[in-house]
Amino acid sequence: MKQIQHIAFIMDGNGRWAKARGLPRTEGHRAGGETVRRVLGYCRDAGIRYLTLYAFSVENWKRPKEEVDALMHLLVAHLAGEEPMLHEHRVRLRVMGRREDLPVAVREALERVECATAAYERQLIVCLSYGGRTEIAHAAREIARLVAKGELDPETIDEATVARHLYLPDVPDPDLIVRTSGELRLSNFLLWQASYAELYVTPTLWPDFGEADFQAALSAFSARERRYGAL
Ligand code: FPP
Repeated sequence: MKQIQHIAFIMDGNGRWAKARGLPRTEGHRAGGETVRRVLGYCRDAGIRYLTLYAFSVENWKRPKEEVDALMHLLVAHLAGEEPMLHEHRVRLRVMGRREDLPVAVREALERVECATAAYERQLIVCLSYGGRTEIAHAAREIARLVAKGELDPETIDEATVARHLYLPDVPDPDLIVRTSGELRLSNFLLWQASYAELYVTPTLWPDFGEADFQAALSAFSARERRYGAL
C-alpha cells in the first residue's frame, strides 16, 4: 500500500441520510460528527499525517438559519468534546477558511483547542467558511499588498509565491480527495491544492462511511499511477 501523507474529505450526504430515515437534517449532521470521530481513528491507524475535512463552505451560509445554527453548535460541541482525544492521539487542530465569519463563541472555542494542541505533529484541518476561490482571492490580495508596498517585484511572482500565501502554506497538497454520496464535483474545495490529487468518489453517505469504505479508498489510491504530467 502506497503511503498517503494527506487525505481530504468532502463529507456529503448527511441530509439524504436523515431524510431516508424520516429524521431532521440536523440529525444527519450529528451522525456525520460520529463519522468524523471514526475517520480520525482510521487515519491514525494508517499513519496518515494530515486529515482535512470540508465541514462548512462559504456557500453553506445560504442554508436556513436553523440548520446553520445547528451546524455551528455541533462544531463547538464536537471539537471541544474531542479535545481529550486530540491530546491522547497527539493531533493538532487547525481551522482553515474565513474564520472572521464565524460566531464569536465558535471562534473562541476553536482557537482555544488550536492553541492547546499547537505542539502536535499530526494535523486535523477543518475547513470552515471555506471556499477555494475565496482562498485564491485572499492570496492575490496579500500578494498585491506586498507589491504595493514595494516589497515584491511582480515579475518574480510564480506558483510558489501564490502557494506561500494560501491559508495554510506549510501543509502539503492532498494526495487523495474522497467525496461521499456519489457527486462528481469538487464544489470549490482546495482548488489550488487539488491539482494533482487523486479523486475517489463513493456512493456511501457520509454518516454510513466506515472502515471498509476507507480501506477501499486507500486501495484505489494504491492502484493508481501518479505521473504529474510526465510519461
Ligand atoms: C454535507 O451534507 C455535510 C455538511 C454540510 C456538514 C458536515 C458537518 C459535519 C459532519 C459536522 C461535524 C464536523 C466536524 C468537523 C466535527 P449535506 O447536508 O450537504 O447532505 P445532502 O447533500 O444529502 O443534503
